[in-house]
Amino acid sequence: MTRSKVDALLKSDAPVEEVLVMGWVRTKRDAKGFSFIELNDGSCLRNMQIVAGETLPNYDEVKKLTTGSAVSITGGLVESVGSGQKWEIRADTMEIVSFAPEAYPLQKKRHSDEFLRTIAHLRPRTNKYGAAFRLRSELSYAIHKFFRDRGFRYIHTPIITSSDCEGAGEMFRVSIFNPTSIPMVNSAPDFSADFFGRETNLTVSGQLEAEMFALALGDVYTFGPTFRADPSNTRRHAAEFWMIEPEMAFCDLAGDMTLAEEMIKYLTTFAMSECADDLGLFAKYVDKNLMPVLENVVSSQFVRLPYGEAVDILLNSGKTFEYAVQFGTDLQSEHERYLTEEHFRKPVILYNYPKIIKPFYMRVNDDGITVAAMDVLVPGIGEIIGGSQREERLDVLERRMRECGLSPENYWWYLDSRRFGSVPHSGFGLGFERLIMMMTGITNIRDVIPFPRTPGGIEF
Ligand code: 4AD
Ligand code: MG
Repeated sequence: MTRSKVDALLKSDAPVEEVLVMGWVRTKRDAKGFSFIELNDGSCLRNMQIVAGETLPNYDEVKKLTTGSAVSITGGLVESVGSGQKWEIRADTMEIVSFAPEAYPLQKKRHSDEFLRTIAHLRPRTNKYGAAFRLRSELSYAIHKFFRDRGFRYIHTPIITSSDCEGAGEMFRVSIFNPTSIPMVNSAPDFSADFFGRETNLTVSGQLEAEMFALALGDVYTFGPTFRADPSNTRRHAAEFWMIEPEMAFCDLAGDMTLAEEMIKYLTTFAMSECADDLGLFAKYVDKNLMPVLENVVSSQFVRLPYGEAVDILLNSGKTFEYAVQFGTDLQSEHERYLTEEHFRKPVILYNYPKIIKPFYMRVNDDGITVAAMDVLVPGIGEIIGGSQREERLDVLERRMRECGLSPENYWWYLDSRRFGSVPHSGFGLGFERLIMMMTGITNIRDVIPFPRTPGGIEF
């Protein structure tokens, strides 16, 4: 007999004579001549009720089952007489795969997120984290489906690189040097003696490589891990996070914004219909306002507003922010959240940022001061997407690289794309964890990554 998943059995529309299920005991309740076991196999939020009668040859053992113990059960899927569930399994056999000791750290009570972070290896066994990580899996699938349905090709961009796409933050160095004896020339490390013969790091973004493929295959996307050694320890920054980066040839900033809005709406709609049970848990226990927020994301037209106008709104808001704003400063999370949560009360796309706060590759606007950048801000998070139209003019791009302290010679291959068949093109990066935070109402990025990496945090 093949093993059935509880998820599928609970959706069954008829009884099944004999099924095999395997999972872990959430709770056990003894009645006269029977035990009721709530079995969870991780396939869904809900448990399967197992009825184990005293006629089971090992009933004495069954009665000793503790929370967290593992069992394998055969029996009939029958309509439940009790209330609260449609189906239950009347056990014919129950093999005890292993007992969990009474000291099992996950007892029935609710545990704090802080405590569960200290047992990140066990927390996926809780309802909340099981739901979050099932949602993460479903959304990964939905992302590929969204792009494939639109004819985008999936590109694997390198993890180890010698380029610096964003130029803003700190990168993790990749080296085989022995830290206690680094070869030096002129009192600087001699990277020519290192593995790749030059300075290398973990990628902060797959964009530069994705651009090369957009200019060959048309519409492409990446979906992979990216790394930033930013020491700021915030609720929405991780050292290792996943980014989805579409890149489109023959596409301007307006087209970029349209794709970003469509994508967020598609993924939100997908989660609401395909992960309804799991979202229901978040709406009940994590954020009571979650469903209205998600419905608002799906149904509202996103605001499109130039950065300069956003600064005016912030200056006239009458609010005191921790960080002052003026034209030319980067917006902080508090500013982004004011715009999307209080002022507009829906997602906002800010565009045309000052070039001095943005990377070299963004297309310079005719005013010479701003670039064709866009950030998507959503309630609860602030920035969830950063993107732009790319500078396709070779001379302007080379000038911008020098202004940003990059040497065009090192990026000869990138500049080739502007020498040979250059076209207007655009793309963006969606932070996968921030998307999951928006969908669940979970407010700390550490709680939507299976094993988060943050400053000082790498236990698991
Ligand atoms: O705005 P960012 O830095 O844009 C880029 O990296 C571009 N190269 C993307 C592109 O145009 N192809 O990052 C994009 C998104 C942010 O909006 C945010 O959602 C997420 O990545 N992000 C982070 N998420 C978690 N932890 C961090 N440290 C993050 N840094 C950025
Ligand atoms: Mg950004």
